[in-house]
Amino acid sequence: MLNPRNVTASAPGKTILFGEHAVVYGKPAIAAAVDKRAYVSIEEREDNRTHVRINELGISGYLNIEKGTIELDNDEKNEGILKYVLIALMKTGSKDGLEITINMDIPVGAGLGSSAAVTVATVKAASSFKDIELTSDGIAKLAHQVELMVQGSASPIDTILSTYGGIVYLSRDAEEIIKLDIDSEIPLVIGYTSERGNTGKLVESVRLKMEIAPQVMIPLFNSMEALTNGAREALTSGDHKMIGEFMNINHGLLDAIGVNTEELSKMVYIARKSGAFGSKLTGAGGGGSMIAYCPGKVDVVIESINKFEKAFKVKISADGVRLE
Ligand code: PMV
Repeated sequence: MLNPRNVTASAPGKTILFGEHAVVYGKPAIAAAVDKRAYVSIEEREDNRTHVRINELGISGYLNIEKGTIELDNDEKNEGILKYVLIALMKTGSKDGLEITINMDIPVGAGLGSSAAVTVATVKAASSFKDIELTSDGIAKLAHQVELMVQGSASPIDTILSTYGGIVYLSRDAEEIIKLDIDSEIPLVIGYTSERGNTGKLVESVRLKMEIAPQVMIPLFNSMEALTNGAREALTSGDHKMIGEFMNINHGLLDAIGVNTEELSKMVYIARKSGAFGSKLTGAGGGGSMIAYCPGKVDVVIESINKFEKAFKVKISADGVRLE
């Protein structure tokens, strides 16, 4: 079969609902893919060069897949996400001579896993362009390797959610990935601060606390495990009140391990005051984002947070990576 002239793949971003940081200590977590996606289109070029443009970020440049180098069109901009694209192309055995266009519906730096979504969509688009059909497992594994190569360390949560979509319960060390079967709508609001937490540093700060006071930290992680397991049941049975309650407890425990900030808590409490059933910081913390679970109150929660930070609505995306 001839290569299709233009292949577009898209993959969703994610949000962690329960269990961040605890997953680093082998505890379970629950995360969801959201209806904000990264779109990666690949077509052939006349010449033998490979060019990438990320429309929303105003970043573009030439990649050399063979040599593994990046040459930006505009020197002042950071290579950022282009590194993920380059390594994904290398890992899929792509050859130079491609024009790649990326469109991002996912806000970058809001803890929604934008780099993983771009990586997963690139792996899918590049392999399909070569008429190679990878399984979902294959895509998730390859994309995780790309994240590891670019970042040094990365949990597989982001790439798993971008690949599979839906709401996923990740068991101990992400050994088992269980898609939760949930009927009801999960109306979520994401609020984010301009300040971005550094995941590596935050994980390290928690590790230091664990070293100094394991007798205090271990029970906190055990509680996170228990609430994540409780939340799994509450989500499956559609128990709004308990979903919210577990989020609130999780926020308190994340505060206890030292990854909360004043700005995050301000949004968390405003959301509750505006009618959210529950709210918590999400992801690494130290800045970044919070989520609020707000059936029937989405608009008012967004309006309240938007008075001082940025907030938007997300829906859970059942679809993971897909060809467009
Ligand atoms: O902030 P994010 O979306 O990168 O999430 C980090 C989640 C942690 O549990 C803190 C770290 C990890 O690798 O799982």
